Amino acid sequence: MKLWGGRFTKEEDQAVHAFNESLSFDRRLYRQDIEGSIAHVTMLAKQGIVSEEDRQSIVEGLRGILADIENGALDFSGEYEDIHSFVEAQLTERIGEAGKRLHTGRSRNDQVALDMKLYCRDQTEELAGLVKALQQELLQVMEENLETYMPGFTHLQKAQPVTLAHHMGAYFEMFERDRDRLGDIRRRMNRCPLGAGALAGTTYPLDRDYTAELLGFDGLTFNSMDSVADRDYLIELLAALSMIAMHLSRFCEEIILWNSNEYRFVEIDDAYSTGSSIMPQKKNPDIAELVRGKTGRVYGALVSLLTMMKGLPLAYNKDMQEDKELSFDAIDTVKSSLKLFTGMLSTLTFRKDVMEQSAKNGFTNATDAADYLVNHGVPFRDAHGIVGRLVLSCLDKGIALDDLSLEEFQAASPVFEADIYDAISMKTCVEKRNTVGAPGPEAMREVIRSCRERLAAETQR
Ligand code: ARG
Repeated sequence: MKLWGGRFTKEEDQAVHAFNESLSFDRRLYRQDIEGSIAHVTMLAKQGIVSEEDRQSIVEGLRGILADIENGALDFSGEYEDIHSFVEAQLTERIGEAGKRLHTGRSRNDQVALDMKLYCRDQTEELAGLVKALQQELLQVMEENLETYMPGFTHLQKAQPVTLAHHMGAYFEMFERDRDRLGDIRRRMNRCPLGAGALAGTTYPLDRDYTAELLGFDGLTFNSMDSVADRDYLIELLAALSMIAMHLSRFCEEIILWNSNEYRFVEIDDAYSTGSSIMPQKKNPDIAELVRGKTGRVYGALVSLLTMMKGLPLAYNKDMQEDKELSFDAIDTVKSSLKLFTGMLSTLTFRKDVMEQSAKNGFTNATDAADYLVNHGVPFRDAHGIVGRLVLSCLDKGIALDDLSLEEFQAASPVFEADIYDAISMKTCVEKRNTVGAPGPEAMREVIRSCRERLAAETQR
């Protein structure tokens, strides 16, 4: 009984440890944890809270730990609860007594808040860089395709002719908002929580401004309870990631459609496709499908974190440890999606002839035919009816509006003249649309200039 009891207790202890620990996943914060500790002890020494000798040996010890983790000499084995306990234990093992002074005036609650913010700040910058790389790829496609005509769709039905540059430009704008959003989030998160202690600050004369400055923050958090209980920045980041994932997913859906036998607008490079184990003719758009599919787990992270936070009383609660795995997963997922997607886009072949043919065959110039009549004095509603009847007869014959003879046009309305063919050519239809934001090449050239400027301005941020 005693033996069994002892063994049971031990197993329970292990189960509790396994459930409670976070080192298995927060180990990825080691750099931020060490960087934060170096800043903290530097401030403690400046304030005379620890001696200069202790500061020196603590900083050296921490640098040694960092180097050993990075060169593989130190792994994360051992029954430590989290990265904070791990680093502190390692430090004390290495430098003795002085190591025990590092945690003066600090709690793991403000420490973990700091580490996560530092980590998210880096990740936000990296993500913005990846979005920008994708935008640069888009910009190149835009520059090369000002006169590549294709159908624009509403309700997935051919609507009016646009250009490939214009279609890509829509995604450029979505990703521009994503990048802008990441910038906003970075700005808002860049306030240092260190010095909040467990929840109520500390009695030591800490110089919080100094620590914040050492760590590159723009300023301080102003309420110590909020400092340790706030995960808004993380929720905002996950919302921004969800939006990026949603944009990528829409784009993937289009590429999958366009790559299908029915559309044939694009061909995905072999490197980004896979074959079927049974059907020899198949080349599947797996990467696009996976990027689309992974969107769900990113949304999942956002909803999990919102739900985890919704009932928490102030200030820190252990529930908040659950913020990590799902955020790390969402960040990793979006980063790899962005990289893979950009690679796929840069190797995509656009079948310009198929696109143009498709625009011609779908009556995308019907509005322009009606506008022609309007420009010759026919009321729009009548023009709409006349062209509608022409479309119907074309559908019967299986031809495009451009294929009707002048007699057929004139039978529908005597207003039609020989210049109707020019008026409804793809070139005219697109070229005349030159309001800002429209697909006309003149308008597009202006927009492309602004795209280029916006990408360049961001490098100075
Ligand atoms: N591992 C913890 C987390 O990720 C660190 C903070 C622990 N604080 C505490 N009072 N148990 O949230």
